[in-house]
Formats: sequence, C-alpha cells, structure tokens
Amino acid sequence: VPASDYESESATIAQGVVESNWAGFSGTGFVNYDNVVGSSVEYTVTAAQAGAHVLTFRFANGTTVSRPLAVNANGGAATTVAFPPTGAWTTWQTAAVTLPLVAGANKVRAVSTTAEGGPNADKLSIAFSGPADTERP
Ligand code: GCU
Repeated sequence: VPASDYESESATIAQGVVESNWAGFSGTGFVNYDNVVGSSVEYTVTAAQAGAHVLTFRFANGTTVSRPLAVNANGGAATTVAFPPTGAWTTWQTAAVTLPLVAGANKVRAVSTTAEGGPNADKLSIAFSGPADTERP
C-alpha cells in the first residue's frame, strides 16, 4: 500500500496562514501556525483499514524551544508531540505519532498547546493505508 501525503496548505486551518517564504517545503507552501494556544490544522486522512496507524508530520522549527501539538483522530484522545527545534526554518524534519484510525475518512487534528503556537507544518504522511503492523512490505 503506497504512502499518502496530505499537504498542510490543503487542510482546514484555524488560526494559521499558508506561507512559502522558507525553502524546502513540499507542495505549494506550509502552514505558519498563529503564535497562540489553540491554533490548529485538521487533515482528512483516508485509511484502508481500521486500527493503529503511524502518522508522520514534516515540520520546521527555527526557534530554540519545542512547539508542541496535541494530535487526535476523530475527536479521540490526544497525544502531544514535541516538535523540537530543527535549527532553522529551512531545515525540515519529521515527527511520528501512532493513532487509531477508522476505515475510510478520518479527521486528524493537530492543535498548538503553548503561546508560541505550532511549528511550520509542511505535510502529514500516512506510511501505509493499512494497519501499522500488518501491511508492511
Ligand atoms: C518567524 C518565521 C515564521 C514562523 C514564525 C514563528 O516569523 O518567519 O515562518 O512561523 O517565526 O515563530 O512561528
């Protein structure tokens, strides 16, 4: 099952703006989360099967402190992911979280938890559309 990428600039953004001034992003830009608690990006992610899935965020954080996001699927329990400094706004790294998804469409929401807001968010990838541990090639 091939990887699927979901660009942040195509997601549902609340308290954030699409920008393209820092090189290295995929697609046409990235989301600059507003520097407030509660700024968010919601991706609609399709899974072939229900179960635990690994979701990988590509991001940049050019500051010296983490920009944590609380991530949940379909309004369920949130897992906080740190999104640590990457050294520069043009240096993009990935951070993964495992969440339960249903078969079909899922709403994956990533919400900032500090006054600094989130990292610059490039995209969300789901490595395999089947369950994490049963469809690896
Ligand atoms: C700078 C940078 C933005 C970033 C922002 C922030 O303004 O240019 O890309 O999003 O800092 O701290 O969130």
